[in-house]
Amino acid sequence: MSLKAVVCGCGAYLPEQVLTNHDLAKKVDTSDEWIRERTGIRERHVAADGEKTSDLAAHAARQALDAAGYAPDDIDLIIVATTTPDLTFPSTAAIVQAKLGVREGAAFDIQAVCTGFIYALSTAEKFLTSGQHKRALVIGAETFSRILDWTDRATCVLFGDGAGAFVLEAQEEADAGKRGVINSYLRCDGRLVDLLYVDGGVSSTQSTGHVRMQGNKVFREAVMRISQAMEWVAADAGIDVRAIDWFVPHQANERIIKGVVKKLDLATDQVISTIAGQGNTSAASIPLAYHQGVSDGRIKKDDLVLLEGMGGGLTWGAALLRA
Ligand code: UT7
Repeated sequence: MSLKAVVCGCGAYLPEQVLTNHDLAKKVDTSDEWIRERTGIRERHVAADGEKTSDLAAHAARQALDAAGYAPDDIDLIIVATTTPDLTFPSTAAIVQAKLGVREGAAFDIQAVCTGFIYALSTAEKFLTSGQHKRALVIGAETFSRILDWTDRATCVLFGDGAGAFVLEAQEEADAGKRGVINSYLRCDGRLVDLLYVDGGVSSTQSTGHVRMQGNKVFREAVMRISQAMEWVAADAGIDVRAIDWFVPHQANERIIKGVVKKLDLATDQVISTIAGQGNTSAASIPLAYHQGVSDGRIKKDDLVLLEGMGGGLTWGAALLRA
């Protein structure tokens, strides 16, 4: 008997406080026009003082559990993709487990920056289809505002805070039908660490550090690597990439998304975009966008959905699933 990992609910959470481009133009030498034209971002959400990544993650996870019709007791695996953990240890997943009241199974974090959710989804799928675990919360959650240098206009205008979550369940192939994760593709090229990193850490500076990015160099890598990952993940599953119903990209830059759409000959109205209102929420952006597509009725049961991410490392990857 063969198992599939099926998304049976999703959730999202955005902090209340909104920071517009106009607000940012009062802090650094930038303008609403520059940010919108270069990135597509209009505003982003920022966590309140004392609001932690685990709080955002727990909100999104509770919503995903409600959507799936499951209780904390039904979960036996929690994976949190985050670059901004509450503490150096224990994992944010362990803290989320306690906040939700989950008492069984495993919990751990995954660190692949903006590709984190793709890494987490792929990992969870392997745990579930091996039969070792039954039902997972896969969460992308970030308080990226805490690692921004608010005097660096090249980075502070790009990012926002938020969390998104999937309930992923192991189902017998006969029960799952067409639904479930079909394929995933994960890559890293560690030679490109210097393009996007945080200039601090436990073992180097004993401080948290701030995001540093050579934006235009990352931009140049993005379209080619993302398109290649998407084409591979589809072709390896015997599917033409143009047969997908929905494209749920990591929301780093509207121009990158448009470049990928053009390169792969997809249609603009297949894209679920949240970038204007959320900015780049790193590991949270893919499940946040997926949740948007489900809640506004675009992503329906059995639809073929292609997710992609790219971030520090450089890491990049893609995942193909039937909703
Ligand atoms: O999620 C992880 C992966 N991250 C990404 O994929 C991000 C990829 N990179 C990007 O999205 C873009 O490179 C950025 C949006 C970060 C920057 O856009 P760009 O078109 O590549 O601009 P640039 O870095 O080449 O800078 C162009 C100019 C520079 O001025 P000069 O040297 O031409 O005089 C910058 O100093 O824009 C200037 N600039 C700004 N001006 C106003 C940089 N940031 C700003 C700003 N406001 N916020």
